[in-house]
Amino acid sequence: MTESPKKPKNYFVKSFGCQMNVYDSERMAELLAAEGMAAATDAESADLVVLNTCHIREKAAEKVYSEIGRLKKNNAGSRVVVAGCVAQAEGEEIVRRAPSVDVVVGPQAYHRLPELIRQAGERRAIDTDMPPVSKFDALPKRSRQGASAFLTVQEGCDKFCTYCVVPYTRGAELSRSFAAVMDEARALVDGGAREITLLGQNVNAWTGSDDKGADVGLDALVRALDALPGVKRIRYTTSHPNDMTEGLIRAHAEVEKLMPYLHLPVQSGNDRVLKAMNRSHSRESYLRIIERVRAARPDIAISGDFIVGFPGETEAEFLDTLEIVRAVNYAQAYSFKYSPRPGTPAADMTGRVAAEVMEDRLARLQALLGDQQRAFNETTVGKRVDVLLERPGRRTGQLVGKSPWLQSVHVEVAGAAIGDLVTVDIVSAGPNSLAGILPAKVAA
Ligand code: 5AD
Ligand code: SF4
Repeated sequence: MTESPKKPKNYFVKSFGCQMNVYDSERMAELLAAEGMAAATDAESADLVVLNTCHIREKAAEKVYSEIGRLKKNNAGSRVVVAGCVAQAEGEEIVRRAPSVDVVVGPQAYHRLPELIRQAGERRAIDTDMPPVSKFDALPKRSRQGASAFLTVQEGCDKFCTYCVVPYTRGAELSRSFAAVMDEARALVDGGAREITLLGQNVNAWTGSDDKGADVGLDALVRALDALPGVKRIRYTTSHPNDMTEGLIRAHAEVEKLMPYLHLPVQSGNDRVLKAMNRSHSRESYLRIIERVRAARPDIAISGDFIVGFPGETEAEFLDTLEIVRAVNYAQAYSFKYSPRPGTPAADMTGRVAAEVMEDRLARLQALLGDQQRAFNETTVGKRVDVLLERPGRRTGQLVGKSPWLQSVHVEVAGAAIGDLVTVDIVSAGPNSLAGILPAKVAA
Protein backbone atom coordinates (compact mmCIF):
# COMPACT_ATOMS: atom_id res chain seq x y z
CA MET A 1 0.00 0.00 0.00
CA THR A 2 1.35 3.44 -0.82
CA GLU A 3 1.45 5.91 1.99
CA SER A 4 -0.88 8.85 1.34
CA PRO A 5 1.15 12.05 0.92
CA LYS A 6 1.38 14.45 3.83
CA LYS A 7 -0.77 17.56 3.90
CA PRO A 8 1.09 20.31 2.02
CA LYS A 9 2.65 22.86 4.37
CA ASN A 10 3.07 25.72 1.96
CA TYR A 11 1.62 26.87 -1.34
CA PHE A 12 2.39 29.03 -4.34
CA VAL A 13 -0.22 30.33 -6.79
CA LYS A 14 0.96 31.32 -10.26
CA SER A 15 -1.45 33.40 -12.30
CA PHE A 16 -1.72 33.58 -16.08
CA GLY A 17 -4.03 35.67 -18.23
CA CYS A 18 -6.52 38.32 -17.23
CA GLN A 19 -7.21 40.36 -14.11
CA MET A 20 -10.06 38.07 -13.17
CA ASN A 21 -7.50 35.29 -12.84
CA VAL A 22 -5.38 37.56 -10.64
CA TYR A 23 -8.44 38.04 -8.44
CA ASP A 24 -9.20 34.30 -8.37
CA SER A 25 -5.55 33.59 -7.53
CA GLU A 26 -5.74 35.94 -4.54
CA ARG A 27 -8.90 34.23 -3.33
CA MET A 28 -7.34 30.77 -3.71
CA ALA A 29 -4.29 31.97 -1.76
CA GLU A 30 -6.56 33.29 1.01
CA LEU A 31 -8.40 29.96 1.06
CA LEU A 32 -5.18 27.95 1.39
CA ALA A 33 -3.91 30.33 4.08
CA ALA A 34 -7.17 29.79 5.98
CA GLU A 35 -6.37 26.06 5.84
CA GLY A 36 -3.20 26.78 7.78
CA MET A 37 -0.79 26.66 4.86
CA ALA A 38 2.01 29.21 4.57
CA ALA A 39 2.77 31.24 1.45
CA ALA A 40 5.95 30.06 -0.32
CA THR A 41 8.13 32.63 -2.06
CA ASP A 42 8.34 30.66 -5.31
CA ALA A 43 7.07 27.54 -7.06
CA GLU A 44 10.37 25.71 -6.53
CA SER A 45 10.06 25.73 -2.74
CA ALA A 46 6.31 25.04 -2.47
CA ASP A 47 4.67 21.72 -1.49
CA LEU A 48 1.60 22.72 -3.45
CA VAL A 49 1.61 24.76 -6.66
CA VAL A 50 -1.56 26.13 -8.21
CA LEU A 51 -1.32 27.12 -11.87
CA ASN A 52 -4.24 29.45 -12.57
CA THR A 53 -4.47 29.12 -16.32
CA CYS A 54 -5.77 31.06 -19.33
CA HIS A 55 -7.44 29.55 -22.40
CA ILE A 56 -8.14 32.70 -24.42
CA ARG A 57 -5.53 32.00 -27.13
CA GLU A 58 -3.70 28.83 -28.10
CA LYS A 59 -0.32 30.12 -26.94
CA ALA A 60 -1.66 30.92 -23.49
CA ALA A 61 -3.26 27.47 -23.17
CA GLU A 62 -0.11 25.62 -24.28
CA LYS A 63 1.94 27.43 -21.65
CA VAL A 64 0.36 25.23 -18.96
CA TYR A 65 2.05 22.10 -20.21
CA SER A 66 5.52 23.63 -20.43
CA GLU A 67 4.96 25.11 -16.97
CA ILE A 68 4.05 21.69 -15.51
CA GLY A 69 7.13 20.17 -17.13
CA ARG A 70 9.41 22.86 -15.72
CA LEU A 71 7.86 22.56 -12.28
CA LYS A 72 8.31 18.80 -12.12
CA LYS A 73 11.94 19.19 -13.18
CA ASN A 74 12.73 21.76 -10.48
CA ASN A 75 10.42 20.57 -7.72
CA ALA A 76 9.58 16.90 -8.34
CA GLY A 77 7.87 16.39 -4.99
CA SER A 78 5.34 19.21 -5.33
CA ARG A 79 1.65 18.62 -5.77
CA VAL A 80 0.20 20.38 -8.78
CA VAL A 81 -3.23 21.96 -9.13
CA VAL A 82 -4.35 23.15 -12.55
CA ALA A 83 -7.04 25.79 -12.03
CA GLY A 84 -8.65 28.39 -14.29
CA CYS A 85 -9.94 28.32 -17.83
CA VAL A 86 -7.72 25.56 -19.27
CA ALA A 87 -8.91 23.35 -16.40
CA GLN A 88 -12.51 24.16 -17.32
CA ALA A 89 -12.05 23.63 -21.04
CA GLU A 90 -9.83 20.55 -21.01
CA GLY A 91 -10.77 18.77 -17.77
CA GLU A 92 -9.54 15.17 -17.74
CA GLU A 93 -7.52 15.72 -20.90
CA ILE A 94 -5.02 17.57 -18.69
CA VAL A 95 -4.20 14.50 -16.60
CA ARG A 96 -3.97 12.42 -19.75
CA ARG A 97 -1.37 14.80 -21.17
CA ALA A 98 0.31 15.53 -17.83
CA PRO A 99 -0.15 12.57 -15.46
CA SER A 100 1.76 14.34 -12.68
CA VAL A 101 -1.15 16.74 -12.14
CA ASP A 102 -3.02 16.03 -8.87
CA VAL A 103 -6.04 18.34 -9.03
CA VAL A 104 -7.95 19.98 -11.88
CA VAL A 105 -10.41 22.65 -10.78
CA GLY A 106 -12.49 25.07 -12.83
CA PRO A 107 -13.03 28.79 -12.16
CA GLN A 108 -16.46 28.26 -10.59
CA ALA A 109 -15.44 25.41 -8.29
CA TYR A 110 -12.22 26.54 -6.61
CA HIS A 111 -13.90 27.12 -3.24
CA ARG A 112 -13.70 23.31 -3.01
CA LEU A 113 -9.93 23.35 -3.33
CA PRO A 114 -9.13 22.19 0.25
CA GLU A 115 -11.42 19.18 -0.13
CA LEU A 116 -9.99 18.37 -3.58
CA ILE A 117 -6.44 18.51 -2.22
CA ARG A 118 -7.42 16.06 0.54
CA GLN A 119 -9.02 13.74 -2.02
CA ALA A 120 -5.97 13.94 -4.22
CA GLY A 121 -4.01 12.17 -1.47
CA GLU A 122 -5.83 8.98 -2.58
CA ARG A 123 -6.63 9.61 -6.22
CA ARG A 124 -6.75 12.43 -8.68
CA ALA A 125 -9.48 15.03 -8.11
CA ILE A 126 -11.21 16.78 -11.00
CA ASP A 127 -13.96 19.36 -10.49
CA THR A 128 -15.17 21.45 -13.42
CA ASP A 129 -18.75 21.86 -12.19
CA MET A 130 -20.53 25.15 -12.45
CA PRO A 131 -22.45 24.72 -9.21
CA PRO A 132 -25.64 26.71 -8.57
CA VAL A 133 -24.22 27.79 -5.20
CA SER A 134 -21.81 30.58 -5.86
CA LYS A 135 -18.19 30.09 -4.82
CA PHE A 136 -18.29 33.61 -3.41
CA ASP A 137 -20.54 32.45 -0.55
CA ALA A 138 -18.04 29.76 0.44
CA LEU A 139 -14.81 31.76 0.32
CA PRO A 140 -13.21 33.32 3.40
CA LYS A 141 -13.58 37.06 4.01
CA ARG A 142 -11.02 39.26 2.25
CA SER A 143 -7.86 39.93 4.24
CA ARG A 144 -4.88 42.28 4.01
CA GLN A 145 -4.68 44.14 0.71
CA GLY A 146 -2.36 46.25 -1.35
CA ALA A 147 -3.28 49.87 -2.12
CA SER A 148 -5.14 48.77 -5.24
CA ALA A 149 -7.54 45.83 -5.06
CA PHE A 150 -9.63 43.90 -7.57
CA LEU A 151 -13.23 43.03 -6.81
CA THR A 152 -15.11 40.65 -9.11
CA VAL A 153 -18.73 41.78 -9.42
CA GLN A 154 -19.77 39.93 -12.56
CA GLU A 155 -18.59 36.79 -14.27
CA GLY A 156 -19.26 34.97 -17.50
CA CYS A 157 -20.57 36.19 -20.81
CA ASP A 158 -23.77 35.76 -22.83
CA LYS A 159 -22.53 37.65 -25.87
CA PHE A 160 -20.93 34.73 -27.75
CA CYS A 161 -18.49 36.57 -29.97
CA THR A 162 -17.63 33.86 -32.48
CA TYR A 163 -13.88 33.75 -31.68
CA CYS A 164 -14.17 33.66 -27.90
CA VAL A 165 -14.00 30.80 -25.38
CA VAL A 166 -15.14 32.86 -22.39
CA PRO A 167 -18.86 31.96 -22.61
CA TYR A 168 -17.78 28.30 -22.43
CA THR A 169 -15.05 28.50 -19.78
CA ARG A 170 -16.62 31.07 -17.46
CA GLY A 171 -20.26 30.23 -18.15
CA ALA A 172 -23.32 32.44 -18.35
CA GLU A 173 -23.38 36.07 -17.17
CA LEU A 174 -23.84 36.23 -13.44
CA SER A 175 -23.91 39.35 -11.27
CA ARG A 176 -23.05 39.21 -7.59
CA SER A 177 -25.54 40.97 -5.33
CA PHE A 178 -25.18 44.65 -4.45
CA ALA A 179 -24.90 43.72 -0.76
CA ALA A 180 -22.21 41.07 -1.36
CA VAL A 181 -20.15 43.49 -3.46
CA MET A 182 -20.42 46.26 -0.87
CA ASP A 183 -19.51 43.86 1.97
CA GLU A 184 -16.41 42.80 0.09
CA ALA A 185 -15.54 46.43 -0.72
CA ARG A 186 -15.71 47.29 2.99
CA ALA A 187 -13.46 44.33 3.84
CA LEU A 188 -10.97 45.43 1.16
CA VAL A 189 -10.86 48.98 2.52
CA ASP A 190 -10.45 47.65 6.08
CA GLY A 191 -7.54 45.56 4.76
CA GLY A 192 -5.79 48.65 3.36
CA ALA A 193 -7.15 49.10 -0.18
CA ARG A 194 -7.47 52.69 -1.41
CA GLU A 195 -8.43 51.94 -4.99
CA ILE A 196 -11.04 49.39 -6.03
CA THR A 197 -11.27 48.03 -9.55
CA LEU A 198 -14.59 46.35 -10.23
CA LEU A 199 -14.02 43.33 -12.45
CA GLY A 200 -16.17 41.39 -14.85
CA GLN A 201 -15.88 39.80 -18.29
CA ASN A 202 -18.67 42.23 -19.11
CA VAL A 203 -18.52 44.35 -16.01
CA ASN A 204 -20.88 47.00 -17.34
CA ALA A 205 -23.55 44.31 -17.83
CA TRP A 206 -23.70 44.07 -14.01
CA THR A 207 -27.26 44.36 -12.70
CA GLY A 208 -28.69 44.14 -9.21
CA SER A 209 -31.06 45.61 -6.66
CA ASP A 210 -29.74 48.35 -4.44
CA ASP A 211 -30.38 48.64 -0.69
CA LYS A 212 -33.79 50.19 -1.43
CA GLY A 213 -34.78 47.35 -3.76
CA ALA A 214 -34.48 49.38 -6.97
CA ASP A 215 -33.10 47.72 -10.13
CA VAL A 216 -29.74 49.29 -10.82
CA GLY A 217 -26.68 49.01 -13.06
CA LEU A 218 -22.93 49.36 -12.58
CA ASP A 219 -23.19 53.14 -12.12
CA ALA A 220 -25.04 52.52 -8.83
CA LEU A 221 -22.11 50.44 -7.56
CA VAL A 222 -19.73 53.20 -8.60
CA ARG A 223 -21.79 55.77 -6.69
CA ALA A 224 -22.05 53.52 -3.62
CA LEU A 225 -18.26 53.05 -3.62
CA ASP A 226 -17.88 56.81 -4.00
CA ALA A 227 -19.75 57.17 -0.70
CA LEU A 228 -17.70 54.50 1.10
CA PRO A 229 -15.18 56.10 3.48
CA GLY A 230 -11.60 55.17 2.66
CA VAL A 231 -12.16 54.64 -1.08
CA LYS A 232 -10.06 57.12 -3.03
CA ARG A 233 -10.23 55.74 -6.54
CA ILE A 234 -12.69 53.61 -8.49
CA ARG A 235 -12.11 51.79 -11.77
CA TYR A 236 -13.93 49.07 -13.70
CA THR A 237 -12.99 46.64 -16.46
CA THR A 238 -13.71 45.07 -18.99
CA SER A 239 -16.66 46.69 -20.70
CA HIS A 240 -18.69 45.86 -23.77
CA PRO A 241 -19.71 48.79 -26.01
CA ASN A 242 -23.36 47.74 -25.96
CA ASP A 243 -23.54 48.00 -22.18
CA MET A 244 -22.23 51.59 -21.93
CA THR A 245 -25.44 52.98 -20.43
CA GLU A 246 -26.30 56.65 -20.15
CA GLY A 247 -26.06 56.30 -16.35
CA LEU A 248 -22.53 54.93 -16.51
CA ILE A 249 -21.44 57.64 -18.92
CA ARG A 250 -22.96 60.24 -16.59
CA ALA A 251 -21.04 58.74 -13.66
CA HIS A 252 -17.83 59.58 -15.56
CA ALA A 253 -18.93 63.22 -15.58
CA GLU A 254 -20.14 63.35 -11.97
CA VAL A 255 -18.10 60.97 -9.80
CA GLU A 256 -14.70 62.47 -9.23
CA LYS A 257 -13.25 59.27 -7.77
CA LEU A 258 -14.15 57.35 -10.93
CA MET A 259 -10.84 57.47 -12.79
CA PRO A 260 -10.72 58.89 -16.34
CA TYR A 261 -9.92 55.62 -18.05
CA LEU A 262 -12.08 53.32 -20.11
CA HIS A 263 -11.11 49.97 -21.58
CA LEU A 264 -13.59 49.47 -24.39
CA PRO A 265 -12.62 46.72 -26.84
CA VAL A 266 -13.69 47.16 -30.45
CA GLN A 267 -11.76 44.21 -32.02
CA SER A 268 -12.11 45.45 -35.61
CA GLY A 269 -12.98 48.63 -37.46
CA ASN A 270 -14.82 46.88 -40.27
CA ASP A 271 -18.56 46.21 -40.17
CA ARG A 272 -18.45 42.93 -42.12
CA VAL A 273 -15.80 41.55 -39.76
CA LEU A 274 -17.66 42.85 -36.70
CA LYS A 275 -20.77 41.05 -37.92
CA ALA A 276 -18.85 37.81 -38.52
CA MET A 277 -17.46 38.20 -35.00
CA ASN A 278 -21.04 38.59 -33.71
CA ARG A 279 -19.99 41.77 -31.89
CA SER A 280 -23.48 43.31 -32.19
CA HIS A 281 -22.06 46.82 -32.52
CA SER A 282 -20.90 48.61 -35.63
CA ARG A 283 -17.96 50.86 -36.32
CA GLU A 284 -20.27 53.89 -36.18
CA SER A 285 -22.07 52.89 -32.98
CA TYR A 286 -18.70 52.37 -31.27
CA LEU A 287 -17.45 55.77 -32.39
CA ARG A 288 -20.66 57.42 -31.17
CA ILE A 289 -20.19 55.87 -27.70
CA ILE A 290 -16.62 57.16 -27.56
CA GLU A 291 -17.91 60.63 -28.48
CA ARG A 292 -20.48 60.57 -25.68
CA VAL A 293 -17.94 59.32 -23.14
CA ARG A 294 -15.51 62.06 -24.17
CA ALA A 295 -18.24 64.68 -23.94
CA ALA A 296 -18.88 63.54 -20.36
CA ARG A 297 -15.20 63.35 -19.38
CA PRO A 298 -12.97 65.17 -21.89
CA ASP A 299 -9.66 63.95 -20.41
CA ILE A 300 -10.64 60.26 -20.42
CA ALA A 301 -7.99 57.80 -21.67
CA ILE A 302 -9.43 55.19 -24.02
CA SER A 303 -7.98 51.70 -24.19
CA GLY A 304 -8.98 48.85 -26.48
CA ASP A 305 -8.54 45.27 -27.66
CA PHE A 306 -7.99 44.29 -31.29
CA ILE A 307 -7.85 41.06 -33.24
CA VAL A 308 -6.10 40.93 -36.62
CA GLY A 309 -6.54 38.13 -39.13
CA PHE A 310 -10.03 37.02 -38.20
CA PRO A 311 -11.11 34.41 -40.80
CA GLY A 312 -11.80 36.12 -44.13
CA GLU A 313 -10.29 39.49 -43.12
CA THR A 314 -9.05 41.23 -46.29
CA GLU A 315 -6.35 43.89 -46.51
CA ALA A 316 -9.03 46.54 -47.09
CA GLU A 317 -10.94 45.37 -44.01
CA PHE A 318 -7.77 45.49 -41.94
CA LEU A 319 -7.18 49.07 -43.15
CA ASP A 320 -10.57 49.93 -41.59
CA THR A 321 -9.13 48.80 -38.24
CA LEU A 322 -6.17 51.16 -38.67
CA GLU A 323 -8.67 53.84 -39.61
CA ILE A 324 -10.78 53.43 -36.45
CA VAL A 325 -7.59 53.50 -34.36
CA ARG A 326 -6.75 56.86 -35.97
CA ALA A 327 -10.29 58.09 -35.36
CA VAL A 328 -10.32 57.13 -31.67
CA ASN A 329 -6.70 57.84 -30.71
CA TYR A 330 -6.03 55.26 -28.00
CA ALA A 331 -3.99 55.92 -24.87
CA GLN A 332 -3.25 52.23 -24.49
CA ALA A 333 -4.28 48.97 -26.19
CA TYR A 334 -3.90 45.22 -26.51
CA SER A 335 -3.76 43.59 -29.92
CA PHE A 336 -3.66 39.96 -30.92
CA LYS A 337 -3.43 37.63 -33.90
CA TYR A 338 -6.59 35.63 -34.28
CA SER A 339 -6.21 32.23 -32.62
CA PRO A 340 -8.76 29.52 -33.47
CA ARG A 341 -10.26 28.09 -30.28
CA PRO A 342 -11.81 24.62 -30.29
CA GLY A 343 -15.60 24.68 -29.96
CA THR A 344 -16.06 28.30 -31.05
CA PRO A 345 -17.95 29.09 -34.29
CA ALA A 346 -15.06 31.02 -35.86
CA ALA A 347 -12.79 27.96 -35.60
CA ASP A 348 -14.93 26.35 -38.34
CA MET A 349 -15.01 29.40 -40.62
CA THR A 350 -13.25 29.33 -43.98
CA GLY A 351 -10.74 31.93 -45.14
CA ARG A 352 -7.95 31.46 -42.59
CA VAL A 353 -5.49 34.30 -42.91
CA ALA A 354 -1.89 33.17 -43.51
CA ALA A 355 0.45 33.42 -40.51
CA GLU A 356 2.82 35.88 -42.21
CA VAL A 357 -0.08 38.13 -43.24
CA MET A 358 -1.32 38.19 -39.63
CA GLU A 359 2.20 38.92 -38.43
CA ASP A 360 2.49 41.85 -40.84
CA ARG A 361 -0.92 43.29 -39.87
CA LEU A 362 -0.19 42.97 -36.17
CA ALA A 363 3.14 44.77 -36.62
CA ARG A 364 1.48 47.66 -38.50
CA LEU A 365 -1.33 47.93 -35.95
CA GLN A 366 1.07 47.82 -33.00
CA ALA A 367 3.31 50.47 -34.56
CA LEU A 368 0.33 52.83 -34.80
CA LEU A 369 -0.96 52.00 -31.30
CA GLY A 370 2.58 52.39 -29.91
CA ASP A 371 2.86 55.87 -31.47
CA GLN A 372 -0.47 56.86 -29.96
CA GLN A 373 0.52 55.56 -26.52
CA ARG A 374 3.84 57.45 -26.61
CA ALA A 375 2.08 60.62 -27.73
CA PHE A 376 -0.49 60.24 -24.96
CA ASN A 377 2.24 59.73 -22.35
CA GLU A 378 4.00 62.87 -23.65
CA THR A 379 0.88 64.97 -23.06
CA THR A 380 1.21 64.37 -19.32
CA VAL A 381 4.74 65.85 -19.11
CA GLY A 382 4.59 69.15 -17.25
CA LYS A 383 1.26 68.30 -15.65
CA ARG A 384 0.63 68.05 -11.92
CA VAL A 385 -1.11 64.73 -11.25
CA ASP A 386 -2.21 62.54 -8.37
CA VAL A 387 -0.41 59.22 -8.05
CA LEU A 388 -1.50 56.32 -5.86
CA LEU A 389 1.70 54.69 -4.64
CA GLU A 390 1.46 50.92 -4.99
CA ARG A 391 4.88 49.28 -4.74
CA PRO A 392 8.60 49.90 -4.24
CA GLY A 393 10.61 50.83 -7.33
CA ARG A 394 13.85 49.23 -8.44
CA ARG A 395 15.99 52.06 -7.05
CA THR A 396 16.10 52.82 -3.33
CA GLY A 397 13.93 55.74 -2.35
CA GLN A 398 11.75 55.18 -5.39
CA LEU A 399 8.09 54.15 -5.34
CA VAL A 400 5.88 53.22 -8.26
CA GLY A 401 2.25 54.20 -8.51
CA LYS A 402 -0.48 54.89 -11.02
CA SER A 403 -1.67 58.10 -12.60
CA PRO A 404 -5.43 58.67 -12.99
CA TRP A 405 -4.97 57.37 -16.58
CA LEU A 406 -3.46 54.08 -15.36
CA GLN A 407 0.09 54.95 -16.40
CA SER A 408 2.88 53.69 -14.14
CA VAL A 409 4.66 56.62 -12.49
CA HIS A 410 8.10 56.32 -10.88
CA VAL A 411 8.38 58.78 -8.03
CA GLU A 412 11.30 59.76 -5.78
CA VAL A 413 9.47 60.68 -2.61
CA ALA A 414 11.10 60.96 0.76
CA GLY A 415 8.54 60.52 3.51
CA ALA A 416 5.77 59.04 1.37
CA ALA A 417 4.60 55.44 1.71
CA ILE A 418 2.78 52.79 -0.26
CA GLY A 419 -0.94 53.51 -0.11
CA ASP A 420 -0.44 57.30 -0.17
CA LEU A 421 -2.06 59.43 -2.82
CA VAL A 422 0.58 62.04 -3.64
CA THR A 423 0.58 64.99 -6.01
CA VAL A 424 3.60 65.05 -8.31
CA ASP A 425 4.89 66.96 -11.31
CA ILE A 426 5.49 64.71 -14.31
CA VAL A 427 8.98 65.43 -15.60
CA SER A 428 9.46 62.80 -18.29
CA ALA A 429 7.61 60.13 -20.23
CA GLY A 430 8.76 56.86 -21.77
CA PRO A 431 6.73 54.46 -23.91
CA ASN A 432 5.47 52.55 -20.85
CA SER A 433 5.87 54.79 -17.83
CA LEU A 434 6.29 58.30 -16.49
CA ALA A 435 8.61 59.88 -13.95
CA GLY A 436 7.39 62.38 -11.36
CA ILE A 437 8.83 64.58 -8.64
CA LEU A 438 7.27 66.30 -5.66
CA PRO A 439 6.48 69.91 -6.56
CA ALA A 440 9.22 72.30 -5.43
CA LYS A 441 8.22 74.32 -2.35
CA VAL A 442 7.65 77.99 -3.12
CA ALA A 443 10.12 80.07 -1.09
CA ALA A 444 8.44 82.01 1.70
N1 5AD B 1 -7.92 35.01 -30.78
C1 5AD B 1 -7.27 36.17 -30.57
N2 5AD B 1 -7.63 37.07 -29.63
C2 5AD B 1 -8.70 36.77 -28.87
N3 5AD B 1 -9.31 37.46 -27.87
C3 5AD B 1 -10.33 36.72 -27.41
N4 5AD B 1 -10.42 35.56 -28.11
C4 5AD B 1 -9.43 35.58 -29.02
C5 5AD B 1 -9.00 34.67 -30.03
N5 5AD B 1 -9.63 33.53 -30.25
C6 5AD B 1 -8.88 38.78 -27.44
C7 5AD B 1 -9.98 39.82 -27.64
C8 5AD B 1 -10.47 40.05 -26.23
C9 5AD B 1 -9.21 39.84 -25.43
C10 5AD B 1 -9.42 39.56 -23.99
O1 5AD B 1 -8.59 38.75 -26.06
O2 5AD B 1 -9.39 40.99 -28.15
O3 5AD B 1 -11.03 41.32 -26.03
FE1 SF4 C 1 -15.58 37.02 -25.28
FE2 SF4 C 1 -17.17 38.68 -26.68
FE3 SF4 C 1 -17.89 37.89 -24.21
FE4 SF4 C 1 -15.82 39.58 -24.50
S1 SF4 C 1 -17.98 39.99 -25.06
S2 SF4 C 1 -15.87 37.75 -23.17
S3 SF4 C 1 -14.91 38.87 -26.41
S4 SF4 C 1 -17.68 36.58 -26.01
